[in-house]
Parts: sequence; C-alpha cells; structure tokens
Amino acid sequence: MNDVGLPVLGARGCLGRLNPLIRQVRDNGPVSRVRTVTGDEAWLVTRHAELKQLLMDSRLGNTHPDPQNRPRYLDNVLLDLLVSDQDPAAARQFHLDFRAQLTPHFSAARMSGLRARVGAVVDELLGDVLAEPSPVDMHNAFSLPLSYQILCDLIGIADRDEYMAVLHPAGNVGAESDSVGGLYDYLVRLAGRKREQPGDDLASALCAAGHPDETVALLLVAVTMSYLVTPHGISAAIGLFAMNPGQHKLVADDPRLLPGAVEETLRLSKFSESMVPRYANADIDIAGVTIRAGDLVLCDHGSVGFDDRVFSDPERFDVTRAPNPHLVFSHGITYCIGAPLARLEIHEVLARLLPRLPVMRLAIPVDEIQLYGDLGEGQLGGGIAHLPIAWD
Ligand code: HEM
Repeated sequence: MNDVGLPVLGARGCLGRLNPLIRQVRDNGPVSRVRTVTGDEAWLVTRHAELKQLLMDSRLGNTHPDPQNRPRYLDNVLLDLLVSDQDPAAARQFHLDFRAQLTPHFSAARMSGLRARVGAVVDELLGDVLAEPSPVDMHNAFSLPLSYQILCDLIGIADRDEYMAVLHPAGNVGAESDSVGGLYDYLVRLAGRKREQPGDDLASALCAAGHPDETVALLLVAVTMSYLVTPHGISAAIGLFAMNPGQHKLVADDPRLLPGAVEETLRLSKFSESMVPRYANADIDIAGVTIRAGDLVLCDHGSVGFDDRVFSDPERFDVTRAPNPHLVFSHGITYCIGAPLARLEIHEVLARLLPRLPVMRLAIPVDEIQLYGDLGEGQLGGGIAHLPIAWD
C-alpha cells in the first residue's frame, strides 16, 4: 500500500450520527484504504457483513513479522504490547487460553450477584445528582464514578481514586512506558495482597486459580481497559434519551422495553473514532480487494451499526428495533468478555434514571458535547468527556 491522498482518520463524531468521514470512506467500498494519524496506511472496514466475516477469520490477528516497524493506528505503548511476532496459530491459542481465564467471572450467575450492588450505586449517585441545580455534567457526576466504582468492586480495589490516578496516565494515547509499568506494578502488588488476604473479588479468584502475580496483573490490565468505554456507553445512553423525549416516555411507561432500549443505545453509542487494530498474517481477498500479509486492518465496531444494508433508517433511535445485531462488543474470538456487565450497568441506569427524570434534555447542542480528544486528552477508547443534562 503506498497511495497518497487517502482519507486521513481523526475526524470528530457526533452522538447518534455516522461520522461523515466514515460515510465518505464507506462510499469507496466496505473495505477501504485510509491513512491513520501516525501517517501509516490501513484498511478500514465499515460494513457489517465484511466486519463480521473478518472477525471470524483466523488470518487476522495480533501478530506481525516485524512489530517494531509495523503500520500503526496510534502511537501507544499499550497497543504496542498487544502485538507480537509469535506464530499466528500459537498466538491464537494463547488468546483463547487468556479468554478462558476471564470468561467465567462474567457469567449470568456472577452478574445477577452484582445487580443489587450496581442498583445501589446508581441510586446513591442519582440522589446526589438530583440534589444539584440543573444542569449537571452527568458524565463526571454519574457515569464515571458509577463505572469506576463497579470496576473496582469487581477487581477488589478498595481505593477507587488511587487506582484511577494510576490508570489515567497509562490509558493516555501518548502514554510513557513508565506509566504503563506503574499500572502493571500496582496490579502485581494488589495480587500479592490478595494472596495473603483473599476477598470475594476477581483478583482473589485469579490468584486462587494458581496464576502467578504477574499473570494476574496482565489479566487485570485487560479487564481494566474498559475503564472509559463503559462510562462512555452510559453517557451515550443518557444523551440519546435526552435527545429523544418520545422514546424516553415509551420506556418509562413500559419497562418491558428496557432490554431493547439497552441494545439500541449500544448500537448508536460509538460515534467517536475508536477502532481496533489487527494485522493480516496471510493475504485475504474480501469485497473486491486483497489485504496483504502484514497490512493493518482497522475494525470499526461502532460505525457498522449505521450500516443501512442491515439497519433501516440507521440514524433513527428506536427502542423497539428488532432484530438489532450491532457489533459494538465485537464478534467471535474477540467478543467483549465484559459485555454482560456493560449491559447490566446500562440497564440499571435506564431503569432508575428514566422514571426519576421524566423531562430531561441536553443543555448544549449535540455537536458541542465535549470529547476527550477535544480537550487534548487522548485517552484510549476516548469518547464523551462532559455531558451537561438539564431537567425541569
Ligand atoms: C459499553 C461498554 C463496552 C464496550 C463497547 C466494549 C467493547 C469491546 C470490544 C469492541 C472488544 C474487542 C476488542 C478487540 O477486538 O480487541 C472488547 C474486548 C474486551 N472487553 Fe469490552 N467493552 C465494554 C465494556 C467492558 C467491560 C465492562 C469489561 C470488563 C469489566 C470489558 C472487558 C473486555 C475484555 C477483557 C476484552 C478482551 C477480549 C479479548 O481480547 O478476547 N469490556 N470490548
């Protein structure tokens, strides 16, 4: 790949809308060439069918023959750590083993054990928010503390603020390797403490499963990297209902619509650019193009939710949409392990917030919602940084 004049990624998105740049790329074909912000070339997958097909293809993965000189989506230490020059089949098996360690901890039984705790934290934070004068920045006053608290409860971290102070520098796009090392060291020390004083939490369970502290820390880094996508998903859900009072009333009047409403908010949630980089380990023919071994492929799980070949009138927020086969949690071997927890949190938020705030609206125009990128804070996963919500 050596074209000049390719579309350059990095355009700002708007909640509930397909990013115009992605629409332009999609018009060139379901799998199209783009330039990343690092200046490298990549294939961007913008259609549902092609993304689903590639996510099931073992020729796409996290290996590259020359990781140092591979094309990059972003310059980021954490993303660098994910790519190795291992044999692709061995790397795939390693990934399957890694998933097998975590998946049982997000089972339906484990989630139903967490439901009451999530509900209690939602109620407590809502009480605080509603005591404030309108408008309130729901992202910082509600979505962030809620999902951080639940993440810390799940892992078994007592001091939420201390952990976030370690995590934020490591999740910055321009993170230095010592901040990533700081996060890892923090989790190694946590594992050491849990081994001596186990609790009813994920860190203790991973220690009890016989993993050394270093492996426990790596597994916990993977879980922790949801620290911004989940609050973003919660804020996107609140924002979508604030913009759609008719849909708000429908769900507040009939809680049976809640599960469908959760899926519809998820479908429209990923509007800011946050793609997952993968590398071809062999040539792949798809949609009339040939992806060459070593090429960078960007999987855009969010924008395929706007694919008009699958979703009719895709920019319409419709809580009764069925089926709703969005790919926001990915598909196949990379399907999000924490999806049950993310769904639980958004469900409990909507179940409690919509009846208590029957009239709410965005306090600013939707295209002025601030994103982390606008603030010069390029956090991995990015998304909403402030969400001012007003009510009467
Ligand atoms: C709305 C919230 C969330 C969204 C949109 C989301 C989305 C995703 C996506 C697209 C992937 C695939 C990444 C890839 O291909 O490499 C993924 C993987 C993952 N997610 Fe989530 N996620 C969310 C919440 C969570 C939560 C709450 C947790 C756990 C506390 C979590 C844990 C994980 C883990 C461990 C993986 C790695 C799976 C693997 O590599 O096989 N996620 N997530």
